[in-house]
Amino acid sequence: MRRKLVAANWKMHGSRALTEQLLSALAARPPSCEVAVFPPFPYLAQALALAEGRLDIGAQDLSAHAQGAYTGEVSAAMLADLGVRRVLAGHSERRQYHHEDDLLITAKLERAFEQGLMPILCVGETLQQREHGTTEATLAAQLATPLRVLGERSALLTIAYEPVWAIGTGCTATAAQVQAAHAFIRSQLAARDAKLSKLIRVLYGGSVKAANAPELFAQPDVDGGLVGGAALDANEFLAICAAAR
Ligand code: 13P
Repeated sequence: MRRKLVAANWKMHGSRALTEQLLSALAARPPSCEVAVFPPFPYLAQALALAEGRLDIGAQDLSAHAQGAYTGEVSAAMLADLGVRRVLAGHSERRQYHHEDDLLITAKLERAFEQGLMPILCVGETLQQREHGTTEATLAAQLATPLRVLGERSALLTIAYEPVWAIGTGCTATAAQVQAAHAFIRSQLAARDAKLSKLIRVLYGGSVKAANAPELFAQPDVDGGLVGGAALDANEFLAICAAAR
C-alpha cells in the first residue's frame, strides 16, 4: 500500500511572513498524510527551522551540475547541506520558460540522487498535445530518458502528473482523465520493471482544491497531489491534506 503524499509548490510566491504563517499553521495542525512543502530558495532555511522535521521541505529546482562556475545555480549538495530532503525536477514551467529537456532533467535527477535527495519528476501534456491525441506519447517520451538512465534508482522517484492545461487555470482534469493518465504512467513503469509500478507514487497536480481533492485522491492510481495556488492558503491546504487518507 502506497502512503499518500501531498506536496505544496509555492512557485515564485511568498515572503518571510507567509513562510512563517503557512509553516506555523501546518506545525500546529499536523496532517495525517505525508506532507512536503517546496518554498522558493530564499525561504528554505526559515521553512526548515519552522518545520522542525515534522514535514519535509523541498526545493523547486536544482542545478544539473554538481558544482563549479555556474552563476545563479543551486547544487544538490547545497540543498542536502541545508537539510532539504526533496526536490522538484522537470516542472512544466521549467520546461516551458527555461527550455529544460528530458536529458537536462535526467541530469538533475542524477545530481539529486547523488546527494540523497528524493526527487519528484513532473510530467504532463499541453492542451495542444491532448487535442491531437498525443497525451500518452508525450508522457511516454517524458518518462523514457529518466527511467532508462536511472535504471534501478528509478524506484526512489516520485512522479507528478501535471497536465499543463490544468495548471493555474482552475480547469481541473476530471477524475476519469486523471485515473487514465496515472494508469498509463504506471503501465510505462511496469514495462521497465513490475515492482516500479507498485512502488512509485504518482501524484496529480493541476488546480487541486479542497473541493475536488477527495474525488481525485480516491482514484486507485492517484497517490496524492502536487498543489500550487491552493497551497498558499493554510486552511485550504490543510483541507486538501485531510482528503488524502
Ligand atoms: P495549481 O495548483 O496552481 O494549478 O498548480 C499546480 C502545479 O503546477 C503544482 O506544481
